[in-house]
Amino acid sequence: MSTAEATRVLLVEDNAGFVYLVRDLLVRKGHGRFTVDAAGSLAEALSAIRAGGFDVVLLDLGLPDSRRIETFSRMRAAAGDTPIVILTVLNDDEVAHEAMKAGAQDYLVKDQVDESLLKRSITYAIERAANQKALHDMSARLLQLQDEERRRLARELHDGTAQDLAALSMNLSVLRRHMDALGADGRAALADSVVCAERCASELKTMSHLLYPPLLEEMGLAGVVKEYVDGFADRSGIAVELDVPADLGRLPPETETALFRVMQESLANILRHSGSSTAAVRFTRGAGEIGLEVNDKGRGMPGELPGSGGPGGVLLGIGIRGMRERMRQLGGRLDIASGPGGTTVKAVLPFMEIEQ
Ligand SMILES: Nc1ncnc2c1ncn2[C@@H]1O[C@H](COP(=O)(O)OP(=O)(O)OP(=O)(O)O)[C@@H](O)[C@H]1O
Ligand SMILES: [Mg+2]
Repeated sequence: MSTAEATRVLLVEDNAGFVYLVRDLLVRKGHGRFTVDAAGSLAEALSAIRAGGFDVVLLDLGLPDSRRIETFSRMRAAAGDTPIVILTVLNDDEVAHEAMKAGAQDYLVKDQVDESLLKRSITYAIERAANQKALHDMSARLLQLQDEERRRLARELHDGTAQDLAALSMNLSVLRRHMDALGADGRAALADSVVCAERCASELKTMSHLLYPPLLEEMGLAGVVKEYVDGFADRSGIAVELDVPADLGRLPPETETALFRVMQESLANILRHSGSSTAAVRFTRGAGEIGLEVNDKGRGMPGELPGSGGPGGVLLGIGIRGMRERMRQLGGRLDIASGPGGTTVKAVLPFMEIEQ
């Protein structure tokens, strides 16, 4: 939005008198800074927002076809990056809190609104939404770079260093055939070198698998999780129960990568933080939705749950933030439940069926 252009407001409001009032405040007294289109029902508002072209939505929660927070959730899902300011008669702190948590930019109560408050709220809502979008774009880019970097490292370890090691091992076996020509020192050094080369090869393999399972693209999620989970269980000593539905099938590549990363990070967190000796990884597939749950029976997260943002909250690393951001980008959710009995990370992603 350039400053010279008028701010395009979608006013979702079924009360004609209030529509008149808002138009009066924004359009008549607004010196051309605002245009206001009104929609009298949620259905009308949803088709208007989908058609695009608005800078901000002013949303009444009580509409003929929808009420309370449900009105906000449905508008939020359709509005994309367009900020929403709630403007309602409902002076209810609980609804206000819920709406702000779910991403409303402001919550205004009708009989407390005057011209300057309304204009300020709209302007700040647009600014904040632009900043949030920039931040989201930046995290999306960072996650993508992290993925590319891990993939590049995995490929280099696999195609470069691992090949050199394989050549080294072959040379060592040639030398072994000439053992007799060596003295006792030479034979011991050779045997030691063989063991060393084997250990390097196996560590390298583990490392490149941890960075990026080489077969994820080829075999899909269902094809690689078992090997990954088995490998994790072997290395960590944590017994992991794995449940993958037989009909999981292939999912879009970004969905497979995102779910794989969530599983990987959750298992890493279990190993590092939970103290649990067991874990369970469960994939589910429903209509247009794919779910992943990773659970442990460990000590739970210290303090408040991450994301609650309150004081005393867990100091978030990159792990949980990254999982949340990946889910957000793909239109999904990440929920974490944690207590003294353990922690459950639950990810849900919508997906479109693709041809097998
Ligand atoms: N399964 C778990 N059990 C107990 N605490 C956990 C668990 N998962 C996460 N936590 C707590 O939540 C915090 C944040 O986790 P997060 O993955 O975001 O960061 P991290 O693991 O500390 O660092 P990194 O950025 O390397 O992932 C952890 O430091 C830990 O205190
Ligand atoms: Mg972590």
